[in-house]
Amino acid sequence: MKSALVSSLLFALALAGAVPKKVDYNGFKVLRVNLNEKLDKLEALEKLATHVLNPGKASFVDVVVAPENVDAVNALSAATVITEDVGAALKEEGGFSAYAGSETWFTAYHSYADHLQFLRDLQAGYTSNSAIITAGTSVEGRTLTGIQIWGTGGRGSKPAVLIHGNVHAREWITSKTVEYIAWQLLTKYSTDATVKSLVDKFDFYIVPIVNPDGFVYTQRTDRLWRKNRQTVSSSRCVGRDINRNWPYKWDAPGGASTDPCSETYKGVAAGDAPENKGLVAQVQQLKASRGIRLYLDIHSYGQYILWPYGYDCNLRAENDAQHRNLATRAASAIRAVSGTAYTIGPSCSTLYATTGSSTDYTDVTGNSTYSYTYELRDTGKYGFSLPANQIQPTVRETWAGIVSMLKDA
Ligand SMILES: *[C@@H]1O[C@H](CO)[C@@H](O)[C@H](O)[C@H]1NC(C)=O
Ligand SMILES: [Zn+2]
Repeated sequence: MKSALVSSLLFALALAGAVPKKVDYNGFKVLRVNLNEKLDKLEALEKLATHVLNPGKASFVDVVVAPENVDAVNALSAATVITEDVGAALKEEGGFSAYAGSETWFTAYHSYADHLQFLRDLQAGYTSNSAIITAGTSVEGRTLTGIQIWGTGGRGSKPAVLIHGNVHAREWITSKTVEYIAWQLLTKYSTDATVKSLVDKFDFYIVPIVNPDGFVYTQRTDRLWRKNRQTVSSSRCVGRDINRNWPYKWDAPGGASTDPCSETYKGVAAGDAPENKGLVAQVQQLKASRGIRLYLDIHSYGQYILWPYGYDCNLRAENDAQHRNLATRAASAIRAVSGTAYTIGPSCSTLYATTGSSTDYTDVTGNSTYSYTYELRDTGKYGFSLPANQIQPTVRETWAGIVSMLKDA
């Protein structure tokens, strides 16, 4: 795959002491390629693509393609243009804004340092019912930082709601959305009866960015990076897919890659990514205390609400009907805000197979009553680089969906 080449060039530059240059996507296109389930073509396509945007999908694949490879991709299989110029689309994202400490936070994208500051400032305003929490350390030594929120009954006295964001580095809208949940729960607690009832019912553990190294890398070097930044001795390629590394059915075939250059590289052993070690410990600790009622893993894009299982398309969760019930109502709540349409269903049969995924782990090993993956806006027009003017509409509609789930759970 092309990104392997780019990565090894960057690696060589880094060794030479040069600062890696930011990947320039001007003139690159996003193409949607219809593969008709032909896996031999997928391999050829991966070599021509700079990034695969929806790895795992067998029917059609969205890929970022350099100008010089567009003809070759078209020759391979029928392709339609999703984005004419990725560089221009990234400019529409709006750049970074300075941290402002108000709801204007949800009108622009921000640096990692500002995300940490946002959490600290939010927590500092509500010291009697929130605390900064951590869930281990990344490959490059960054702390996975989150916030815990509780109501009457005190800290740690209610079943847990656990929410993770920005597992995949390029999914910037997801950390904004997870932060909005924390923001709403704290700032509306004393004025909104629904919010108060939810905060009094659960203990919230909210980690907006569980892949900080990858997130920083998307800001400094490659906007479309997905994985963590862990190396492996057998390859020049970097990164494990944190959502293919969880130690449950990690070994099952078909839902992840054993190729370190792949976007869905599963790692050398189950749970061998430092980020996963921290998150596993967090799940285990919550399971052992008050138990987990609801786990949400927030991703983009595609507009899906998915639940277990990822590793087997025929298997259904014991409480599949209840999962569907909550998801149906959440999708209606989202549609009522803005008309945005979501597809819902068990993840393998609805989207594609995944092994070592977070929601299979939390469902079975974590004993969470409910486990969902959200795939937020959009359906491919902007993909990961959702323009800043869509942040507020997205976080507001998603909040409506999550409130609906919290009421039902
Ligand atoms: C799993 O969770 C249920 C509550 O949803 C609880 O009754 C049960 O004891 C838990 N089992 C384990 C092994 O933690
Ligand atoms: Zn994702």
